[in-house]
Amino acid sequence: MSRVRTLPIQTASATYDVLLGEGLLADLPQQLRVIFGERPRRSFVVTAPEIWGLWSEAFLAGFAPNESPTVLQLPAGEHHKRLAALERLAQQLATAGADRSAVLIAFGGGVIGDVTGFLAAIYMRGIDFIQVPTTVLAQVDSSVGGKTGVNLAAGKNLIGSFHHPRLVLADTAVLRTLPPAELRSGLFESLKAGLIHDRALFEFIEQHTEALLRQETGPLTHVIAESVRIKACVVSQDEREAGLRMILNFGHTVGHAIEALTHYRGLLHGEAVGWGMRVAVEASRTRGLPSTEADRILAAIDALGLPPLPRLTARRLLNAAAGDKKRIGGVRHFVLLERIGRAQVVKDLADDELLQAIQRGLKLGRSTG
Ligand SMILES: NC(=O)c1ccc[n+]([C@@H]2O[C@H](COP(=O)([O-])OP(=O)(O)OC[C@H]3O[C@@H](n4cnc5c(N)ncnc54)[C@H](O)[C@@H]3O)[C@@H](O)[C@H]2O)c1
Ligand SMILES: [Zn+2]
Repeated sequence: MSRVRTLPIQTASATYDVLLGEGLLADLPQQLRVIFGERPRRSFVVTAPEIWGLWSEAFLAGFAPNESPTVLQLPAGEHHKRLAALERLAQQLATAGADRSAVLIAFGGGVIGDVTGFLAAIYMRGIDFIQVPTTVLAQVDSSVGGKTGVNLAAGKNLIGSFHHPRLVLADTAVLRTLPPAELRSGLFESLKAGLIHDRALFEFIEQHTEALLRQETGPLTHVIAESVRIKACVVSQDEREAGLRMILNFGHTVGHAIEALTHYRGLLHGEAVGWGMRVAVEASRTRGLPSTEADRILAAIDALGLPPLPRLTARRLLNAAAGDKKRIGGVRHFVLLERIGRAQVVKDLADDELLQAIQRGLKLGRSTG
């Protein structure tokens, strides 16, 4: 097995490692022993049928037959990230005799991770869980930082809890079966991480776009590791999103609006954030981001390959963005860039300013607004 990188996460309430490397799945049983001791605990893997179909053999390879985890399935897709799924899985745990010493293993993308994490947070008032993320997005973003939860019909992630995993084990080999659009979607979150916090990561992605889209292991592992390091740095300073952590929402106000208006079916999350970042760049340009940098960012976003925007008007997007969760006490918090690698949260972005940024960033003519 090639080199394993250990990326430590340290927040006010939890300390754990992200292990990143090629072929790491084989190490899972050993890592469970390192964390939980030699005396085996009952473990339950929560996964999606398509992921299990592709990767169950590799996942189970290192386990002795008597220590194999019990498999619980959640069908793929954002619309299964609901309370109903949680109740069904909790019932299955109880029926299988899971007690407070049970360990859950989230084996899948962000949907599986968010549901499993929340299940671990509330089953018997909280049990241990680990994350084995299988998408780029989950490896660079959702498996780290302790946010867990499910959606309501009224909106995404409206029910949830902070509950950190005891370990994140990210095997880059499993990304090989990822559909190209899912790969790209995750890379937009890495680009975001670079833009808000680390110019070098932005420039690396800018210079290695082709290699990343071809999934070359070296560059991809570097980008995942750096993205995790940035997220770790931000959440270690502001675990509960009292301030700094908000910068992770760069591009997300309009990204979420696009997702909501297209009922989460139009674009993948990272793609919607890609369009949202274009808007945030235009808003930043009018607030002092140098134009040369703004143009450079737009080029980097476009080079990753944005799929066409679904038919939406600027006005509808503005209205949808008004209902964004990041509105606190009626005040919109909007993340802007001062420079590549440095973000700030502003509270005074007027509707008009945002509307114009939407028109420019999404290339929507005034007549459609
Ligand atoms: N908790 C957080 O901090 C946080 C942060 C960002 C996003 N999220 C959440 O993450 C979710 C999105 O996660 P996602 O982008 O990973 O989507 P996803 O979990 O829906 O996975 C995308 C698709 O890829 C499939 N898949 C996963 N791994 C695969 C593999 N290795 N090979 C082939 N197919 C595979 C899945 O079955 C699914 O169909 C959203 O619900 C979002 O709210 C959470
Ligand atoms: Zn995101």
